[in-house]
Amino acid sequence: MDNVVRRYAGYNVPRYTSYPTAADFTPAVTADEHAAWLGSLDGRESVSLYLHVPYCREICFYCGCNTKMAVRDDVIDAYRRALEVEINLVAGLMRQRPRIARLHWGGGTPSILGPRGLRSVATALRRQFSFDIGFEHAIELDPRRVTPALAKALSELGVTRASLGVQDVNPLVQAAIGRLQPLAVIETAIEHLRSVGITNLNFDLIYGLPLQTVESVRKTCNLVAAMAPDRIACFGYAHLPHLKANQRRIDEAKLPSQDQRIDQAEAMSEELTRAGYTKVGLDHFARPGDALPQAAASGKLHRNFQGYTDDASRVLLGLGASSISTFADGFVQNIADVPRYIRSIEAGSLASARGCWLDERDRQRALIIERLMCDFAVDLDAVAPNAGFRDEMAILAPMQWDRLVEIDGAKLTVTQAGRAVVRVIAAAFDTYRRGEPAQFSRAI
Ligand SMILES: C[S@@+](CC[C@H](N)C(=O)[O-])C[C@H]1O[C@@H](n2cnc3c(N)ncnc32)[C@H](O)[C@@H]1O
Ligand code: SF4
Repeated sequence: MDNVVRRYAGYNVPRYTSYPTAADFTPAVTADEHAAWLGSLDGRESVSLYLHVPYCREICFYCGCNTKMAVRDDVIDAYRRALEVEINLVAGLMRQRPRIARLHWGGGTPSILGPRGLRSVATALRRQFSFDIGFEHAIELDPRRVTPALAKALSELGVTRASLGVQDVNPLVQAAIGRLQPLAVIETAIEHLRSVGITNLNFDLIYGLPLQTVESVRKTCNLVAAMAPDRIACFGYAHLPHLKANQRRIDEAKLPSQDQRIDQAEAMSEELTRAGYTKVGLDHFARPGDALPQAAASGKLHRNFQGYTDDASRVLLGLGASSISTFADGFVQNIADVPRYIRSIEAGSLASARGCWLDERDRQRALIIERLMCDFAVDLDAVAPNAGFRDEMAILAPMQWDRLVEIDGAKLTVTQAGRAVVRVIAAAFDTYRRGEPAQFSRAI
């Protein structure tokens, strides 16, 4: 990678899984808006559901997710009951019985609910929602917790896709990040899942972790590719110890430098491509024939809070503590603190904490940023005719000079070199980021 790109790679910019980003939400959006947006949904349009379970049995040092350690089962049970009440509350505010195109259980580690808990929540969902035939039913799993009994329960629930946190398979790296999971544990987990018919598998990998080297991430990629998951996501380690106390257990002296991070990201991309994976967007890889590269090839790739997706639903209902819902008119996020979330739901009120409204200009900017992130190109005139974007063009001018982006009238094309720092290019259209240093991870 050339030096120009390395200069931009250290900028702190959002991952743009939404625009505006969750960091820009304010408490001005309340349960009243949330209820009104739910009430305005048109029952003819299928929506997606995201259900958050913010618990794990232990907390990995590097984790940046919204999760807490749960030792006692009664804590998890109280949360499950609140989820079921929230399902009834949300459905009760909608005029028509909602149709669901996709269901995603995320966390934390949602399987911590156990087969009975998962079945109980699924029953509450089926009571209130209608599921489209062949809907995608996905869950995030920790390979260390996948047992034959869990796999069987997931298959009985109709789960079609599982996303497993692999991160790195090197034992020294695993020790440095507080996540010991020998390769055999991962292999056994996928055997359990495949044997019950859950064959759509995604692995998460991370670069930029302590003790990782270019050679070690290459080896991880090769060992992982040999297990042939359909999709692999490669995230850059987001180290924000001032926000995440558990990350203070990471020895910063062992973290790779910015230049080493870039080399690792490139090496992973090379190895996975060599192993037959197609790169999708910035950080996803998929086997040919998978729905993700197909969506990318036809301009139908999208961004949502999980990253790149072929989910075209315009409405996403987020359930559980910290979950974000997306509506045509705005975003709303639930209370993240679990006891407060439960108290609100038990009192019969939506647990809405913050959000933002979207006007036409925000929607245009959201679309521009999404197309840049997904297609590495956008026609500004097609999205926002005559908007001009003079300020944005001024911000982009040095990037054009540096050959990261080509500008032909209203058509922007991110160059091959610029792709790695597309988040920096997209940030030119983000009116919430005008010069101030923010709490985001590095572009690479
Ligand atoms: C909810 S976890 C996945 C499911 C399960 N809890 C597990 O760890 O296997 C979501 C994913 O976020 C990624 N992740 C978590 N913390 C991160 C961080 N600080 N920087 C980058 N990626 C992170 C990891 O790749 C992780 O697999
Ligand atoms: S990475 Fe997964 S298992 Fe580890 S603490 Fe985060 S959510 Fe829990």
